Formats: sequence, C-alpha cells, structure tokens
Amino acid sequence: MKGIILAAGKGTRLYPITLPICKPLLPVYDKPLIYYPLSVLMNAGIRDVMIITPPNDTKPFENLLSDGSSLGMNICYKEQPVQRGIADAFILAEDFIGDDTCCLALGDNIFYGPGFRRKLRQAAEFAKDGAAIFGYYVSDPRPFGVVEFSSDGKALSIEEKPAKPKSNYIVPGLYFYDNQVVSIAKNVKPSARGELEITSVNNAYLAQGALRVIPLEDEFSWFDAGTADSLYEAAGQIKSAQRSGKMIGCLEEVALRNQWINIEDISNIADGMAKTNYGHYLSTIIDDM
Ligand code: G1P
Repeated sequence: MKGIILAAGKGTRLYPITLPICKPLLPVYDKPLIYYPLSVLMNAGIRDVMIITPPNDTKPFENLLSDGSSLGMNICYKEQPVQRGIADAFILAEDFIGDDTCCLALGDNIFYGPGFRRKLRQAAEFAKDGAAIFGYYVSDPRPFGVVEFSSDGKALSIEEKPAKPKSNYIVPGLYFYDNQVVSIAKNVKPSARGELEITSVNNAYLAQGALRVIPLEDEFSWFDAGTADSLYEAAGQIKSAQRSGKMIGCLEEVALRNQWINIEDISNIADGMAKTNYGHYLSTIIDDM
C-alpha cells in the first residue's frame, strides 16, 4: 500500500502565521503537525509515502523529512500546481500509486486513541477490495463530510458540508482505497466550491456497495488543526495526553516498532536533540530496551 499526505493547502484560515510557513510544518506542542498524519500512515504499515506540497514549497518539507531513509522509509514529494481539491491527490499521484492500493491522510488531521493501530490495519485490509473510511462523532458536523447511517449501522449517504446534517458522524481526513481510486478521481466533477471533493470519491464507492465506515469510539481523539483555535486546542490535548509518559506521533518509535530501524539508529537521532522533549523521549525509548 502507498501513502499520500496532502500538505498543499495555503492555510488561509491561519493567516498571517502561514504566509511564510506551510501549515503542516507548524508546531503542535512538541513536534511539527505533519508528524501526526505521517505516524498514522506508518502505524498502518505504509513505508512508501508521497507528500503533496504547495508550488515552490517542497524544500522545507525535505529539510524536515528528507527521503525518509532515517526512518527506514521512502518519502518523495510532488507539488500541486493548482489547488483543485482533495481528490486531485490521486490524479497527481497516479504514477506513484501504480498498481497498488493507497491511503490518503490530510496534512492537518490529528488522530490518537486506543486500538488505532489495529483499526488502521483493518482499514488497509478492506482497501484490497473497496474503500474504508472512519466515522467520528462531533457536536457540529456542518463544516465536514457527514455520514448518514441506517438503523442497522450501514452507511446510506455522505454529504459534504451539509447545512442540515443527517447525523453527527463526520468523515475525518484519512481514507483507504483500492486501485480504482485513480480512475474514480479522474471522473469526479468539480463541486459548487470548485473542488474535486473526496466526498464524491467516497460516494462512488458507496454506490458500488464497496465502502466500509469504521467507527471511532468516544474515547478517541481527532482534530482538524486548520484554525488557530483547533491548533491551540490540539497542542493542549497532546500535552496532557503525553503526561502518561507515552508520546503521540513519535516517528522513530513507530519505525522501531515496525522493525524499519534499530535502536542504534534512534540513538544517533536522539544525540542531535538531547535538550528537547522529543529528544528526551527518544532517550527513554533507548533506556527501556
Ligand atoms: C475536508 C473534507 C471533509 C472532511 C474534512 C476533514 O474538508 O472535504 O469531507 O470531513 O476535510 O478534516 P475541508 O478541509 O476541505 O474543509
């Protein structure tokens, strides 16, 4: 399975902060925002990742993650010349996806919660033949894609930013698809806001009876960190969740767990950041071995 992180948004809802720096590179407590979606792809077992960046803005991402080899991964980059919507990611990544299945993560979505690694593996399994997305309860679903369920829990419809939502379950920015997704994306027509909507892709799978919606329980946390308030709230929640001693979004820890790197590799990385929260956490991983 191939992974894609869509990190090409201008971040206009965060101006002036995002005038000189892309949103996914902003800090969320003790690490850059993009670490969270990247760690999610890694937890799904995905080793080959394409990061889609704004035009002329790949360099800062490369400065941070390079070619992924320090994580035992292959990371490549592709610029999105014009912002055409989320589904455009599959058209841009057509050659990268090749004959494979794929998972798309939005560069500003943060997920954490119990049993997530198992759910991700389950979603990747579903995507061998169809699509898998998640459903998450929020009090105001209007700014998101919203799933309507039948009384026996089957997805009936998905609507993008409905004025009158049919449920409180939204579709967060993490999507697993089989190889049909490229041709489906190519046939999506722009919406009223002029975008190739991911919701249109999901509805195409729903129409085929090939869409699974995996519920994320109440104890699960999800943030779309696209505004100053949500970014601030996410940072606070990550800080308090990490009081348990377990870091959320530590890339090297996931790479080690996946056996893509070894403890010596972590030790080399930790040496360069001994004075930070992140570096200190890496040292604790080494000490615990
Ligand atoms: C996008 C999707 C929407 C999804 C949301 C999750 O919204 O279109 O379906 O629920 O991401 O963050 P946008 O960021 O374009 O407002």
